[in-house]
Amino acid sequence: MMSLSYSAAAFSTAPSYCFTSTTRCRALFPYSQNQHLIQHLSHSNLRKVEIRCNYADAGIKENINPGTIDVVADVKTERIVVLGGSGFVGSAICKAAVSKGIEVISLSRSGRPSYSGSWVDQVTWKSGDVFYANWDEVLVGATTVVSTLGGFGSEEQMLRINGEANVVAVNAAKDFGIPRFILISVHDYNLPSFLLRSGYFTGKRKAESEVLSKYPNSGVVLRPAFIYGKRKVDGFEIPLDLIGEPLERLLRATENFTKPLNSLPASDLLLAPPVSVDDVAYAVINAVRDDDFFGIFTIEQIKEAAAAVRT
Ligand SMILES: NC(=O)c1ccc[n+]([C@@H]2O[C@H](COP(=O)([O-])OP(=O)(O)OC[C@H]3O[C@@H](n4cnc5c(N)ncnc54)[C@H](OP(=O)(O)O)[C@@H]3O)[C@@H](O)[C@H]2O)c1
Repeated sequence: MMSLSYSAAAFSTAPSYCFTSTTRCRALFPYSQNQHLIQHLSHSNLRKVEIRCNYADAGIKENINPGTIDVVADVKTERIVVLGGSGFVGSAICKAAVSKGIEVISLSRSGRPSYSGSWVDQVTWKSGDVFYANWDEVLVGATTVVSTLGGFGSEEQMLRINGEANVVAVNAAKDFGIPRFILISVHDYNLPSFLLRSGYFTGKRKAESEVLSKYPNSGVVLRPAFIYGKRKVDGFEIPLDLIGEPLERLLRATENFTKPLNSLPASDLLLAPPVSVDDVAYAVINAVRDDDFFGIFTIEQIKEAAAAVRT
């Protein structure tokens, strides 16, 4: 009976970042194929892989086939950085990512949120302002950056947080060689162009062009309208789903009648279907995992992408 334990990081050419288990592969093959597995792992974006070799577990007697081992590889393939992971949408993304076995780091000025939950303990919470972030500490080993940075305020504040903050983040991610950037942007509500010149929308579109120009083949821009769910504010929970969910159902049920109104300026302020915060989060998970998922995504496409991950 014999039990061995190796770390594939020792064989890997990739930098050895910290890494825990998600995907579990169980394979039974000779040493030569084991070498092939190690090569394969070291060429993907994996960092540390544990391989346990156990003749006894495999039910194989050493003297029958000494070259055969039972390999259990604990493999984590994704590590995402959520900018604003403590916020309403960001926390849903962190939770969904954890539930799918994705390693998550959040960056926000407030850091770890005050509420608790098993998923909360599985996120690495970093405190910092995106304008002064120590990206070396935040982005190391990341495969995707997801930005939920955005908000309201004066014209100047809206330009800064919706636009400049995201431009800074996109460039940091690009310089760091992060392969994918996902931006939570916003639907344009069919607004007339003079209204789209506000700091909020100008900032959003500036951020979008930065994502799409720096990440032409992997950048993702999600454009939801009103997002509903349970928003936590100062220890209280605001049940936005009480409005959002029935409204989404109503608009879906009446869409054939309301379609002709869609061409009217600003009609989407009333007619754009709300999206659940979980749908936005699952659409992000879809984007994290699927290399063919890039470009701009409308409300309906967000829902479709979410449905594909939920099932
Ligand atoms: N909620 C909606 O209905 C809706 C609809 C369409 C689009 N969106 C877009 O979706 C995104 C997320 O919205 P949300 O409702 O989740 O907003 P939120 O709750 O205000 O979350 C924003 C997050 O960004 C962080 N943040 C703000 N400034 C920062 C900075 N300088 N450095 C680092 N972190 C910073 C905040 O944490 P700290 O304050 O602790 O830093 C917070 O975690 C926004 O871009 C928004 O425009 C939202």
